[in-house]
Amino acid sequence: MKDPAKFVADSLSAIRAEVPGKAIVAASGGIDSTAAAVLAHRALGDRVRSLFVDTGLLRANEIELVRGFFAASDLPVEVLPASERFLTALEGISDPEEKRRRIGTAFIRLFEEEADRFGADRLVQGTIAPDWIESGGSIRDTIKTHHNVGGIPKDSRLTLVEPLRDLYKDEVRVLAAHLGIPKPERQPFPGPGLAVRVAGPISRPRVAIARAANAIVEEEVDAAIAAGTLARPWQYFAVLLPVKTVGVMGDNRVHGEAVSVRIVQSNDAMTATAVDLPVEIRRRIAERITRTLSGSVTRVLYDITDKPPATIEWE
Ligand code: XMP
Repeated sequence: MKDPAKFVADSLSAIRAEVPGKAIVAASGGIDSTAAAVLAHRALGDRVRSLFVDTGLLRANEIELVRGFFAASDLPVEVLPASERFLTALEGISDPEEKRRRIGTAFIRLFEEEADRFGADRLVQGTIAPDWIESGGSIRDTIKTHHNVGGIPKDSRLTLVEPLRDLYKDEVRVLAAHLGIPKPERQPFPGPGLAVRVAGPISRPRVAIARAANAIVEEEVDAAIAAGTLARPWQYFAVLLPVKTVGVMGDNRVHGEAVSVRIVQSNDAMTATAVDLPVEIRRRIAERITRTLSGSVTRVLYDITDKPPATIEWE
């Protein structure tokens, strides 16, 4: 982005033109939606409400972290508790695209209810160019329907406003710095959250396993970053796999869950390289996951695939 001041000025006029009445903003705590929210608040003042949804698919400590991030960005954001609605809609669902569709629908229905309460008819989202490129369209194959693009039901009463839709990630970073948004300490986290880190059927216990395993990967990688033994990766997480394997506990056979650890370096998420995590950290992660989730997780794998041919998330 050559001239962020000009982008902001143009964007404020465009938002005012696109939102004659009131709007709500879908804030995820990521840099994209935060930048979109800051622009919307500057353009619309008290004609906008920013909402962060607790889907029940968030990581451990996520709500406290995003609250701190919004405060540091000087952004008033309300947290909406909605985990029962999301987990019920997803119970037993395995297909990744069906998960995204159901999450998209649950988000939109919730936003419609909140918009009605506020008298709004516009929804501001932080969609950026790679979201809709990878979500397909007439000329491209659908790789993944990122939930803030393809998962939105066609009959929604809300009109979308997407001030960042032509920007790439590096441009959003320049814009965010210009808007006074602090560099997020958090790694990018997908909109569908732990739903796409539970490969295979979703259930409350499986989400809880994925949450605990993700927390351990984050703690170990964050400790290595803090100790200076590892450069900060683009993303680092755990995925609960849809396969059971045989393990042993004491004298007993256990048919347990398997978790894969994925750590990648990337500039823009369009391509990514698997990080060669030092073996002692890998071992500590495996030991902690199988001990903390003793009796349920009996195997931990390390994913060494680049993107392409894999994608960053497993689903
Ligand atoms: P993939 O897995 O497609 O991920 O290589 C590229 C980046 O996008 C994130 N991701 C998503 N973000 N909704 C999102 O908002 C989604 O459905 C979604 N799927 C993947 C992923 O974490 C990575 O940063």
